[in-house]
Amino acid sequence: MRNGQLKLDVICKEVIELSHETGHFILKEKDKFNSSDIRKKGFNDLVSYVDKNSEKKLIKGLQKILPGSGVLAEEGGGSFDKKYTWVIDPLDGTTNFIHKLPCFAISIALFEGKTPIAGVVNELNFKECFSAIKGKGAKVNGRKIKVSSQKKLGDALIATGFPYNDFGLQNEYMELFKELMHTTQGLRRIGSASVDLCYVAMGRFEAFYEYGLKPWDVSAGALIVKEAGGRLSDFDGGNDYLFGKSIVVTNGYLHKAFMQTVGKYFKGKMNKLQSVK
Ligand code: IPD
Ligand code: CA
Ligand code: CA
Repeated sequence: MRNGQLKLDVICKEVIELSHETGHFILKEKDKFNSSDIRKKGFNDLVSYVDKNSEKKLIKGLQKILPGSGVLAEEGGGSFDKKYTWVIDPLDGTTNFIHKLPCFAISIALFEGKTPIAGVVNELNFKECFSAIKGKGAKVNGRKIKVSSQKKLGDALIATGFPYNDFGLQNEYMELFKELMHTTQGLRRIGSASVDLCYVAMGRFEAFYEYGLKPWDVSAGALIVKEAGGRLSDFDGGNDYLFGKSIVVTNGYLHKAFMQTVGKYFKGKMNKLQSVK
């Protein structure tokens, strides 16, 4: 810190290094891991010592990088009562990890107040580390990235997350899914929301949508895709996509058309969400 200003480029570099160290731990555990290590936090909501130890390592490292900062983390909770807060998902894609399927990541965002100012999503299987600093663009492994320039919905590949414990809007979800099956090039569910967002940021997907997500799933990826030129909304067309439990992100060109389609099924219905305990 100099004159009260954070050196975000230095901080971001240190966070990337920390995510590599912690990622090394996660990959090492993958081979030893077995089903007796799995605990249930709720219906279809899994966790293990790997998520918990990863989070401990990250919090310790992040508080060294920025002394006095606060934390909001998936396993241990927290709040936004400090000027700067780290929002952490220590393992995004736990179900994939447990089934030894590729695609899981560490997701870390730094907030100033309620605004994300830096984000890192480290996808560990394909060794792609995404990062962004507010106003400075987005990168993968140090190389600049941007969203795709596809303007036709019919040629767009769409990512989504299937509802897995919040079925209050499952009919609306299935109707939207059906329409997109007919009007796009296809749909994918890769199982890690932070990575879905980064894949829109680098042009692999043209759009991503999901509801029932938490700030730690989306904060870093949302900044990365915004810095790569993408557009973001909540399902109602507003801007509450970090804390409001629903997110739509596109390459920008398709945003209006995509939001109209989402709105047909979801507008005004988001109060029907209900998690299964
Ligand atoms: C989950 C993943 C998944 C999404 C879920 C998230 P977790 O996070 O991001 O893709 O569909 O909604 O909860 O539990 O693996 O950290
Ligand atoms: Ca997550
Ligand atoms: Ca997680």
